[in-house]
Amino acid sequence: MILDAKNLQADALQKAANAILCGGIVAIPTETVYGLAANAFNEEAVRKIFIAKGRPFIDPLICHVPDFEALETIAVPNESALKLAEAFSPGPITYVLPKKENIPSIVSAGNPTVAVRIPAHPLMRAFLNLVKVPLSAPSANPFGYVSPTKAEHVEAQLGNKVDFILDGGQCECGVESTIVMLTDENAPMLLRPGPISREQIEKVLGKSVRYPKDKNPAHPEAPGMMKSHYSPNAMLRLFEGQTCEANAENALLYFKRPQAPKAHEYWLSEDGNISEAAKNLFDLIRTLDTKYKFIHCEKLPNEGVGEAVNDRLKRAANK
Ligand code: TXA
Ligand code: MG
Repeated sequence: MILDAKNLQADALQKAANAILCGGIVAIPTETVYGLAANAFNEEAVRKIFIAKGRPFIDPLICHVPDFEALETIAVPNESALKLAEAFSPGPITYVLPKKENIPSIVSAGNPTVAVRIPAHPLMRAFLNLVKVPLSAPSANPFGYVSPTKAEHVEAQLGNKVDFILDGGQCECGVESTIVMLTDENAPMLLRPGPISREQIEKVLGKSVRYPKDKNPAHPEAPGMMKSHYSPNAMLRLFEGQTCEANAENALLYFKRPQAPKAHEYWLSEDGNISEAAKNLFDLIRTLDTKYKFIHCEKLPNEGVGEAVNDRLKRAANK
């Protein structure tokens, strides 16, 4: 059931908090995408997330906490985590750090590390302060599908599997958080590009940040890096410059509004704003997915969040 919480309605937040504290699962908005949350300390509740999503148990979950102090209760931070948190948290960045014993191994998929994020969304922050437990929350979509950026997206796919959906409106970033592995401070690694860019991280850390080599796609360092992830049912094709004609089977999704748009042509941003394009991306893909066999999506400029969007599109096209 969707609970309107756009204005932090106390009754909606309390209902959802009670569900969490009784071992339930609740979909919550964040500044990136909607997440499907459970009390990270409750193994049975966390198991419900995996089952609702059809997510393999080898794929670990991100834990959401309200501040750095709460992060220190479940993970062992270091100098790099502190520097990055001062610069970017609360915000769309996740730190992979050694985990403390209180985090059940179902959350970390048996790894000695835990991924922790301090989200910025006011509703999520109010909710975290109300439940007073860390919330494990992957994106609230069936495993492999594109992430939800509106409460209706969660309702359409997982509505009958969750206790509540807290509606906080459309997510601002529209793509999932940047994930940086900090367990070896000498060799920080960017597991997933996101709204905070590699350059921004490198500037704060004063050292280069590498990508995992992805040597073995069957056991990726962040399973979100699996090749065919974030996929709609339609075939997605990436293009630069020219592509085919738009028609009843082929939708064309441009970065910016064409001068004279034709039928079956769509756009991510009115005037070529990369952040706006990222915000609209998953919502438009979901809409087009119900109508077309092929979605031809124009590559974004590889700047700012554009790099993260192109990464998601490449994976979605890799079906
Ligand atoms: O923006 C986001 O990060 C959203 C919102 C809800 O916070 N969450 C999200 O979660 O995208 P999910 O589960 O869809 O993606 C989390 C990624 C997965 O690829 C997972 O493998 C990786 O984080 N991950 C989690 N824990 C990890 C760990 N201990 N080591 C390496 N990767 C980890
Ligand atoms: Mg996901």
